[in-house]
Amino acid sequence: MSGAPRLGVAYYPEQWPRDRWELDAGLMADAGLSVVRIAEFAWSRLEPREGIFELAWLDEVIGILSSAGLDVILGTPTAAPPAWLIEQHPEILPLRGDGRLHHFGHRRHYCPNQLAMRAASERIVRALAERFGSDERVSAWQIDNELGGRCYCDTCHAAFQRWLAERYENVATLNEVWGTAFWSQEYSAWSQIPLPDGAAVPMPSAFGFGRNAPNPGLALDFRRFSSDSLIDFLKRQVTILRVACDPRQRITHNLMGFRFPEIDYHDLGAEIDIVSWDNYPVLDTTRRWTNPALAADAMRGLKQAPVWVLEQQAGPLGWELVRSPRIGEFRLLSWQAIAHGAELVCYFRWRTARFGTEQHWHGILEANGRVGRPYDELRALAAELDSVGGVLSGARPHADVALLHDYDARFAFQAQPTNPVLGYEDTVHAHYEALRRLGLGVDVLSTRADLTGYRAVIAPSLYVMDESTAASLMAYVHSGGLLVLAPRTGVKDRCNAVPERPLPAWLDELAGLEVIDYMSLAPEDAARIAGENGFALDGELRGWYEQVNPTGATALATYTTGPFAGTPGITENSFGDGKAVYIAGVADAATLGSLYRVLSARVGLPVLDVPNDVEAVPLVRDDQDLLALLNHSDEERVVELGPGDWRAHLGAAIDGRVVLEPLGIALLEGERSRRASGQVVADTKA
Ligand code: GAL
Ligand code: ZN
Repeated sequence: MSGAPRLGVAYYPEQWPRDRWELDAGLMADAGLSVVRIAEFAWSRLEPREGIFELAWLDEVIGILSSAGLDVILGTPTAAPPAWLIEQHPEILPLRGDGRLHHFGHRRHYCPNQLAMRAASERIVRALAERFGSDERVSAWQIDNELGGRCYCDTCHAAFQRWLAERYENVATLNEVWGTAFWSQEYSAWSQIPLPDGAAVPMPSAFGFGRNAPNPGLALDFRRFSSDSLIDFLKRQVTILRVACDPRQRITHNLMGFRFPEIDYHDLGAEIDIVSWDNYPVLDTTRRWTNPALAADAMRGLKQAPVWVLEQQAGPLGWELVRSPRIGEFRLLSWQAIAHGAELVCYFRWRTARFGTEQHWHGILEANGRVGRPYDELRALAAELDSVGGVLSGARPHADVALLHDYDARFAFQAQPTNPVLGYEDTVHAHYEALRRLGLGVDVLSTRADLTGYRAVIAPSLYVMDESTAASLMAYVHSGGLLVLAPRTGVKDRCNAVPERPLPAWLDELAGLEVIDYMSLAPEDAARIAGENGFALDGELRGWYEQVNPTGATALATYTTGPFAGTPGITENSFGDGKAVYIAGVADAATLGSLYRVLSARVGLPVLDVPNDVEAVPLVRDDQDLLALLNHSDEERVVELGPGDWRAHLGAAIDGRVVLEPLGIALLEGERSRRASGQVVADTKA
């Protein structure tokens, strides 16, 4: 990050009386905020009737915020098309997969391919850009809000056919790559190509669905098309802003973290200046700290650059039900986002709403305007960042490991989940969690990323494969890297057809094996594996088993039970100067943990022994190592750092021992040389 991390807030001046604005701005500044995000849903106030713009109030509020020393991020309001627009152009409403219109009265009620929506969006964005594009009080633009949704309207149908025509040039090619001879689905004109039946899209947990499932090629392409449609909608706004605005104003969009499954965020990230994302960790407490950590690392990985959190949970939240963060979690989760590379954290929202759908999404101020505990927590955090935040300036998260994830694989698994144990997001999460529990820093990247410099690359279940992705993985291993692959790798080509090649397609030589058989059983089913030749690993694979025939690989572990007992469960192949490991089944958490511990020892990755609910985030600044330790549990935790000279900026390290209070944090600084020596802090027991 370039300077010390900054704090901000989402503010909705249009929802509060004019005579409150100065007071709010003053309270914000007093709390130590420096950024305010506004206007991303204010369309009906900015353009109350077609072409009639009322921007004076926005100008006034920007003036008030700016006078209080607050930088403004201005939203384009297109996530909430006003009633007059929908009345004039009801075709804007999107048709959802279940065949129902998403009617007015919510938000995101638009089809990104409708000309009327595009025209109206371009008009309001242009008006805003003309007025504020060279305004020094505005430092950035947020386009729309949390893009998402797949539309099945006739306009999208026609746009999908055009999208296919551009991609495949002629229908004959499409027939070939989709294999439309199956069930007489051959097309002689683009206009014959249907949309997939949205309602028939299978749910990932069910067996036996899908008699009406579409051609897998069509299923994958429709998801790509839907993603492209939203990105194209965004790009139209980017283009206007680039022309009309001072390049000093950065362009961003608030994404939804790792779990959001509908947009290829790698593609989206390429269109904006800085990636922003929205962080509501308490919405899902099943994986308390790894959920937000994975989201943060995946969002940072989109551009491999610092990010902004444009919405950070401020307090209790929920739609119908409400769930509160623990006392102290406000600080902890903010530090977590910062440690993972956020240079700005904006809370959602300033004041709890009195009206509307989001009365349960608590803000910094109470709905009645009272200043209470959240405000005090915010002020304390801002003061803390003020005193120690500077140590993070110029620092960035350090990762020895890259974890690859691919939206094509994700989309293709959505169409054919195969077995509940193969849930792609869960797979990526499981590998991520196992690595992070060893204190390793992880960059979550696309398969197109440059892998140079990573000590290990983990590429679990890259279900959709092609020659160039395979070539990049081969080059990485050849030059000395360690690559880990998991089951269902290279099962489909980029058209979601099964390649006529040995499995894992395009990677069989690299893995030094061929998958010759597999079994898909109940998710609870388990088979044991045991280490070979001194490889200290005992563990379990579950639900999905592969029988591999080594053509060059050796077994690190062998199945001792299950359908393929006696055959390799985990293999390793030397390729050039590096090694490729293949896991021939779905490893449970304990097994993955042991595997990564043993592999880390073999390649000298600096593993840190931390209790399960303590998160260690390695960072680096010039010649200094930094280490953030975050205790996500309600009890005191102790971390043994081992020998080394650590200076504590937060918390205390006494003789390499850090005692963390419940939900406590330590921020430590040490000599860079420590890492360069590749010191393995923990022992290497499996
Ligand atoms: C986000 C959204 C915000 C607000 C928040 C809490 O997803 O961007 O506008 O709705 O959730 O509900
Ligand atoms: Zn549509």
